[in-house]
Amino acid sequence: MKAKIAVFVSGGGTNLQALIDAQKNGIITSGEIALVISSNAKAYALTRAADNNIPGIVVSRKECGSQEAYEAKLTEVLKENDIDLIVLAGFMSILSGNFTDKYPNRIINVHPSLIPSFCGKGFYGLHVHEAALEYGVKVTGATVHFVNEIPDGGQILLQKAVYIEEGDTPEVLQKRVMEEAEWKILPQATETICAQIIGGR
Ligand code: GAR
Repeated sequence: MKAKIAVFVSGGGTNLQALIDAQKNGIITSGEIALVISSNAKAYALTRAADNNIPGIVVSRKECGSQEAYEAKLTEVLKENDIDLIVLAGFMSILSGNFTDKYPNRIINVHPSLIPSFCGKGFYGLHVHEAALEYGVKVTGATVHFVNEIPDGGQILLQKAVYIEEGDTPEVLQKRVMEEAEWKILPQATETICAQIIGGR
């Protein structure tokens, strides 16, 4: 039996799309995307899920009222769906130690820099690339790591470097990091962990 994956999203969902494509192309064979959970009702990622017949639901921190209620709701949905692995793919909501402690080595995240550069609180989405360009680094990239209570602080699983080019804007750099790194290493790491999960059963 395949490992059941829940993908957590908040926005455009290009990383979700990379996971869906990897499942279609046989790069992910040990797991299946069973559910997409969005923190934002307007996320285009939900349309991508629907287009691929993957159930998508919205669980919003705001509507739940507190972090505790939010995480209790997430836990309930994950249990109901027998989820084995949580993949954070452009998920912009913070998860507390209370939540991450329940899923040791069962939550992975993709971050658009080479951790430990440009990561942690405040470094998300385009801001990461703005910071890299402002600092003047010549190489950046993406990281897939396990998620624990420290933002972007869990064990690193995969990294891929991407060169910065003359004239890069944050948007241009973001696109190159996605194409050359994120969309490759996130499906790879997902397959590796799913294979470990089903191998350990
Ligand atoms: C991606 O670059 C992802 O790595 C980043 O946001 C973008 C989401 O794009 N995530 C973070 O910054 C999390 N700290 P997507 O919705 O198209 O996948």
